[in-house]
Amino acid sequence: MSPASAALNPAIWPSSAARLASGELQIASLSVIDLADQYATPLYVYDADEIYARALQMKAAFDQQPLNCDVHYASKAFLSKAVAKIINQAGLHLDVASGGELTIALAAKFPAANIAFHGNNKSDAEIELAISSGVGHIVLDSLHEIKRVAAIAEKYKVQQAVMLRATLGIDAHTHEFISTAHEDQKFGLSAADGSLEKAVELLVQHDALQLIGLHSHIGSQILAIDGFAAAAAKLVAQTAELNQKFGLKMSTVGLGGGFGIAYVDSDKPVAIEAIAKLLNDTVVAQSKKVGLDVAKITVEPGRFIVGPPGITLYTVGTVKPVTVTAGVTRAYISVDGGMSDNIRTALYDANYTAVLANRSSTAPLVLSRIVGKHCESGDIVVRDCQLPADITPGDLIAVAATGAYCRSMASQYNGTPRPAVVGITAGQAGIWIRRETYEDLLALDQG
Ligand SMILES: Cc1ncc(COP(=O)(O)O)c(C=O)c1O
Repeated sequence: MSPASAALNPAIWPSSAARLASGELQIASLSVIDLADQYATPLYVYDADEIYARALQMKAAFDQQPLNCDVHYASKAFLSKAVAKIINQAGLHLDVASGGELTIALAAKFPAANIAFHGNNKSDAEIELAISSGVGHIVLDSLHEIKRVAAIAEKYKVQQAVMLRATLGIDAHTHEFISTAHEDQKFGLSAADGSLEKAVELLVQHDALQLIGLHSHIGSQILAIDGFAAAAAKLVAQTAELNQKFGLKMSTVGLGGGFGIAYVDSDKPVAIEAIAKLLNDTVVAQSKKVGLDVAKITVEPGRFIVGPPGITLYTVGTVKPVTVTAGVTRAYISVDGGMSDNIRTALYDANYTAVLANRSSTAPLVLSRIVGKHCESGDIVVRDCQLPADITPGDLIAVAATGAYCRSMASQYNGTPRPAVVGITAGQAGIWIRRETYEDLLALDQG
């Protein structure tokens, strides 16, 4: 196989990914051919030990810095009971953004006190589930929510710790659909238009709520880190200002997640240790300047922890060469999944790296597009890649770094049962989420 297509960039692939002499790909010492034979494709495969290692790495990066930090794994990236257990074992806290995510976490016996509850439109039922379960804090996202959360806290006779999600007008330099702290979008309370201050004014009237701090999340898959520092500095200044104005003692600074990972060779994420230092230095310097006592910061990485340890395996069904312009052809390689198991390419032009996974090839590389089996021409998994010209039906394709926001965003489009999720721990594979069946589809349909 030509080196360019066979190479496994360790910044993109699980660190346990390797090629046998035959060219066959292994993850955590297990052959992808065996995994595909045993569990069928499409298949999400996680190196569970790497999830644990990355959770520990993230925690250590912040533990080495002066400020106390709770690292919350943002479970929207991918959650199953097994993942919740790994995260708890690594000593991280957890973020959930729906009643469903909370239910999975509680089913895994994740300590409720270490869970934060997010969401821009939480239902009363979700708020009730969060408060009755004893979640550590709730991040309030709107003026409307304050009264609702206070009423439910009163009903349960608790004083609920809350944070306020602030939008601070920061540009995260990432795709619009994953930028969240500029003004013209749905999340949070704007500092610029006075909503944030109004929220504090309302909130302090409710004894059932204890405001512990402000929170900001500027976006996801951020590779240019200046936005993190700008948001942290603004958040600290805003916290000090509101403390002074309302006689409060907010001392938790919620810095959100969004730490980018490498999907393709040209992605160059900044080391998490450097980001931890930047955030600490910024908060320490700014809090000194504005006179804020910071008891704790929080961060919420999702993608960083589960993205690189996960891959997706597909089986090739058809290959169609198309002449794009004179002398340029593109091979459309159709696989047995698609936008139902990975919507990110269609949703926000995400880039991915793919390899031929079951064998080696000495064929020349050709411009290729990996597409799915769905009834949309936008059903693209990998828009442009170079793959051997002899790829043929029955070959296995592995797509790297699909551990975050793929299974968690998967759908049953075209009545497609969602793939199984397999986790590998200490060289042993096990099913974390079983493959859906046609019976599962019919079980929900009441006729
Ligand atoms: C509030 C909040 N926190 C954390 C995250 C996690 O982001 P990432 O997976 O990019 O770290 C998200 C994702 O969009 C989010 O909305």
